[in-house]
Amino acid sequence: MSRHYDVDAVRKEFPAVERMVYLDSGFQTPLARPVKAAIELFLREGFETAGPKSVWLDRVEQTRAKVARFLGVTADEIAFTKNTSESMNVAANALPLRAGDNVLMIHGDHPNNAYAFLHLQRKGVEVRFIPMTDVVDADSFAPFIDEKTRAISMSHVTFHAGHRFDIESVGAMCTRKKLYFVVDVMQAIGVVPVNATAIGASFIGSGSHKGLLVPQGLGLLYWDKTLKEMEPAYLAAASLAEIPDDLIARADRMAPSPAARRFELGNFNLPAVHALGASLDMIEQIGVQNIQNHCFDLGDHLIARLDELGVRLVGPRERKHRAPHIYVIALPASDWLGHFEENGVRVSPERDGIRVSLGMFNTATDIDRLIDVIRRRGLGRPSAAA
Ligand SMILES: Cc1ncc(COP(=O)(O)O)c(C=O)c1O
Repeated sequence: MSRHYDVDAVRKEFPAVERMVYLDSGFQTPLARPVKAAIELFLREGFETAGPKSVWLDRVEQTRAKVARFLGVTADEIAFTKNTSESMNVAANALPLRAGDNVLMIHGDHPNNAYAFLHLQRKGVEVRFIPMTDVVDADSFAPFIDEKTRAISMSHVTFHAGHRFDIESVGAMCTRKKLYFVVDVMQAIGVVPVNATAIGASFIGSGSHKGLLVPQGLGLLYWDKTLKEMEPAYLAAASLAEIPDDLIARADRMAPSPAARRFELGNFNLPAVHALGASLDMIEQIGVQNIQNHCFDLGDHLIARLDELGVRLVGPRERKHRAPHIYVIALPASDWLGHFEENGVRVSPERDGIRVSLGMFNTATDIDRLIDVIRRRGLGRPSAAA
C-alpha cells in the first residue's frame, strides 16, 4: 500500500481511522496507541503514587532532546509553550523592535501568526503584508524591504490551500540582510522535514496536535541561542539563569537563562510532553521523509482522480510548491460538508472549498472512498467544477 513503509501496520495504531475515512489531520490528529499509552502511564503514576515528579521532569528533558534532534538543533534551543499562538507571541515580543520598524508577513497567512505581530502596532511597529501567491520565496519579499525592515514572519505550509513556501530562500535572504526570521511550522511539522539550522530561522513556533500526533495544549519554540538580545516579555523562576535556592525572588539576580528555557513559564503540560516523547519515537521510526513521500504519492493519486472528475484543486499542484498532505478541492463547503459527514468522511471546510488533509496512516483506499462519495452525489452544481 506504500512504497515507503508498512502503512497497514501504522494504521493499526490509530483505531479511529478504521471507523471513518479520516482526511482531517490538518485540523487535528486522531490519537495513536503509543500516545494513549504515554498519557495513561502518567495518569496511573498520578493515581497510584501521586506522581514521581522528578521522573516526570526527566521525561520532559528527554522529550526536549528528541524535539531538538528532530529539528536539527540542540536541546538548549527548545522551549515548551502552550501552542503556536503562544510561540509566535513569545517571538514577536522578544524581537528588539522599535517604533517605526516594520515586519513583513504574507496576506492571508494564519491569523495566530498574524495577530502576534499586528499587536506590535500599539508600540508603533508597522506590519506590511505581501500578496499571497502560489509561490512565495525571497524574491516575493525583496521589493517590500526597506531600511526600517527588521523581520519576516511566515508559515512554512498554509492551512487553507496547502502551499509549501520556500522558507530556505527567505531564511538565506534574512541572514544576508540581517533580518530576523520567524517561521510557523504548525502545518508542516511531522510530515515535512524541518531543519531549523538549514532554514536559518531566529524562531520557529508550532503546536503539536496535527503532524506531531498529540492532543491540544502543547506548543514548541525553537530559538537561535546566539541571538542573546532576545529577552523574554514575561518572567518566572524557571526562566532565570539562576533560580534562588530559597525561592525568595531577588531583584538583583534576574538574568534570563542562556537557554530557550528563558521563554518558559512555570509548570509544564506533563501528560502532553510525555505523549510527544512517544509520538516522536513513532515518527522517527518511520522517518519523516518517508511520511512526506507517502503523502506526496497519495496527493498525486488524489489530483489524478480529481482531474478525472473535473474538480479543480485550489492550491499548487506541483510537488515543488505544494505541501505533501494538504489539498483543498473546489467544492463549496456549505454545499458539501454535510454530504461528507453523512457518508463518514471527515474533512474540513476552508476559505475556497473542502480541505482534505493526510496523515501517516492514510491509504489510497481512503482517497478512493472520498472520490466515490463525490461521484455518488454528482457534480450537477455549476460551482463544483468551477
Ligand atoms: C499555520 C497554523 N498556525 C497555527 C495554527 C494553530 O494555532 P494554535 O496552535 O495556537 O492553536 C494552525 C491551525 O490550527 C495553523 O494551521
